[in-house]
Amino acid sequence: MQLWESVEAEYRERTPTSRKLYREAGDHVPVGVASSYRAWDPHPLFIDKAQGVYLHDVDGNSYMDFDMNNGAGMSGHAHPAVTEAVTEQLQRGTLFTHPHKLLTEAATELKKRWDLVDKVRFTNSGTESTMHAIRIARAYSGKDKLLKIEGSYHGCHDYVLMSKSAPGRLSGHPKRPARVVESEGVPEKVAETVEIAPWNDLDAVEQIMHDNINEIGALIVEPIVMNVAMTQPHGDFLQGLRELCDEYGITYIFDEVKTGVKVAPGGAAEYYDVEPDLVAMAKSIGGNFPVGAIGGKEEVMERIDDGAAHYGTYNGNPLVLQALVTQLKDVLTEDAYEHVDALGERMVRGYEDVMEDEGIVGHVEHVNSQGSILFTDKRIENYRDWIDNIDYGLHENFWFSMLNQGVMPHPHSADQQWTISVQHTEEHIDETIEAFKNVAPKLAEEQQS
Ligand SMILES: Cc1ncc(COP(=O)(O)O)c(C=O)c1O
Repeated sequence: MQLWESVEAEYRERTPTSRKLYREAGDHVPVGVASSYRAWDPHPLFIDKAQGVYLHDVDGNSYMDFDMNNGAGMSGHAHPAVTEAVTEQLQRGTLFTHPHKLLTEAATELKKRWDLVDKVRFTNSGTESTMHAIRIARAYSGKDKLLKIEGSYHGCHDYVLMSKSAPGRLSGHPKRPARVVESEGVPEKVAETVEIAPWNDLDAVEQIMHDNINEIGALIVEPIVMNVAMTQPHGDFLQGLRELCDEYGITYIFDEVKTGVKVAPGGAAEYYDVEPDLVAMAKSIGGNFPVGAIGGKEEVMERIDDGAAHYGTYNGNPLVLQALVTQLKDVLTEDAYEHVDALGERMVRGYEDVMEDEGIVGHVEHVNSQGSILFTDKRIENYRDWIDNIDYGLHENFWFSMLNQGVMPHPHSADQQWTISVQHTEEHIDETIEAFKNVAPKLAEEQQS
């Protein structure tokens, strides 16, 4: 508590203009931000510009950025190749609601990365990708209910705004989680079409499928639960889900909005060698432009031909497709993966060494270039473990102390992970670890108090 007072005071002192602009924005925009996740106490940073690996705020502070647009920025900010390609496209028109040749080029780039993908449709966000994937999945299986994993986030539409951050007291039995709706305005009748299952417990999932036989038509998973600090699947969990989906006639969706093109060129499907029926994508496929996609097997995607609706004025506009093609062809090259994955190892070693030297209880979960720091020695298996073991207060101290040192270690909130971009270098990682060395003794003291 004592630490927080000094950390918060320093943050306030460094960022008075952000505070002023936040207050002003609150008079015009609910919560003063464009997406409610962006608000935090005492006030969020207002950013003036973002270039390379740095965010520059309105008070003249710079932050080495590992938030990277909530994982969308694997290219780093304003990557020259993407900027150049998009600038050229700007002159040729940004939106025409007629087909154009970039459609095939962009779809082909995604198909090269996901073996299972025969056909692709484009969207404008991760939310749209999961929403449409769920509809196509239901159309394919002919059954209405969705099975969703407790703790996973799949965007902001009615079918998935549940059991993401519910308090333990509302969450029911760990093997049979209760459905906890986390937004007003979601119709009860819609919520009743969603069942909730625990992560990393195949028997429990099977029981729920069995109890809803002939009703559950779609299963959606984040193949790594990126919104529970990178909780990986254990053993053959993802493959086990594949087999259960086949047995129960359920369409299997990977939400690769955060893992896609990041944990491996072909996302988690490649990394874990598991084939879902559909993949929902967004974020880092688009070089910091708002583009999402749904990719899937021919027989599933052809439901769109046969009646499952998918429309959108901005879908696959030439501007974002140009960004996507450049990102996948010219930015996320084989060398780029080698580079960011090696930096990922360096970051993990750096954080873990400092924690050990300072006697901080904690560890890092990571897959290649993405990682989360956890102030607990418990290896987290699922959402219940997470809420029982995480020290939110200490994590806030860590996060704001790093901001005060000029590093944004990951998006705000203990359940998030860093993104290392292709523009980061070894020096950037070493600077980050130096910053952590500066704040670690006080964190250790706070943890032990
Ligand atoms: C796994 C996952 N799915 C879907 C989404 C929603 O994506 P968007 O914010 O682009 O709507 C997110 C956003 O963070 C996400 O992490």
